[in-house]
Amino acid sequence: MAEPALRTAHDTAETRHPRPVSANSGGDLREALDDFLELKEMAAAQEADRALHDQPQMVSRFYDVVTKFYEYGWGQSFHFAPRRSGEGLHAAQRRQEAGVSALLDLGPGVEVADIGCGVGGPLINMARTTGASITGLNFNAYQIERGRKAAHKAGLQETCRFLLANYLDVPLADGCFDRAYSFEAICHAPDRSLCLKELWRLVRPGGEIALTEWCLTDRFDENNSLHRDIRDRVEFANATPSLPTTSQQVAAVDAAGFDVLSSRDQARDSDPDAPWYRSLQGRDVSLASFARVPAGRWLTAKATAVLERLLIAPAGTSEASRILNVAADALVEAGEAGIFTPCFLVHARKPEDGASTVR
Ligand SMILES: C[S@@+](CC[C@H](N)C(=O)[O-])C[C@H]1O[C@@H](n2cnc3c(N)ncnc32)[C@H](O)[C@@H]1O
Repeated sequence: MAEPALRTAHDTAETRHPRPVSANSGGDLREALDDFLELKEMAAAQEADRALHDQPQMVSRFYDVVTKFYEYGWGQSFHFAPRRSGEGLHAAQRRQEAGVSALLDLGPGVEVADIGCGVGGPLINMARTTGASITGLNFNAYQIERGRKAAHKAGLQETCRFLLANYLDVPLADGCFDRAYSFEAICHAPDRSLCLKELWRLVRPGGEIALTEWCLTDRFDENNSLHRDIRDRVEFANATPSLPTTSQQVAAVDAAGFDVLSSRDQARDSDPDAPWYRSLQGRDVSLASFARVPAGRWLTAKATAVLERLLIAPAGTSEASRILNVAADALVEAGEAGIFTPCFLVHARKPEDGASTVR
């Protein structure tokens, strides 16, 4: 099957926005942690154009810090999902991925982009179940490597591809994808309009997108100091700058030139006893969930400190684990207050006459 064409030198010269660099990734955890914290400080104090350059680097360093923890706790798919009573996290993730596959009518011969593909869990599941050809875009080299290995292991190297690229500036030709989707990745963009613009360029006229993204809900009140505090902690500890409200998210997709076909907060589809943040509350039966209850937290903090001192765990493990707990606490608070959703789904189409017009 032909791969999506690379952008030509001519196309590249026409790129319409500043060019954030891909960050280095991988390497030492302590170094990644220090870089992340330093870039975070800088990003907080920066002008918008500087943030455009440094923010992706900061996010990639964030993933250098957290990826192994995520793999341990989440497996291969790093996204939340609406859950049913008695349904485990992984089953809920598969069900959500199948829903997006059905919405986009994925099948053999359809060229698809996975925007911010993580270590490839959703991509591999969706390629396996639909036969579609899916290219994962991600600027984190370690995650790309993990994805390639997993696709190879699954015998899906023909239909699963991985490209090391910043989704604000992808070195592929205009209109090379029939479809594109994202699971919780565009929330990291320093400016989501640039990401949507790039997405619009990459999808062919008549092509469709499905974005499942982090948003503030209608219950979020900017004048409520508790709401603002929770939001700030969610943004800080998850490297997700300026979360939009659900209506701002729809407006951004529309402003990028897509026709919005539907939008829905999938978090509302969860059964009452199984909210999307259930695993972070420590209510699942899993090691990762145990690490979230008070006894598990205490044990994890002690164990990581000892393992770090014995040089069995890499330096920085305890601090990374502490940051992850700050992130998880803020997400649970946001979920309980009903002011945030990690799975706001927007389905949209690029108009057939959308070859050159961006609104
Ligand atoms: C929460 S993870 C979700 C991963 C994947 N979609 C999944 O559900 O398993 C967010 C992903 O977005 C990627 N990402 C964030 N900013 C990016 C950027 N500017 N360019 C490319 N990838 C990016 C991260 O490296 C990470 O893989």
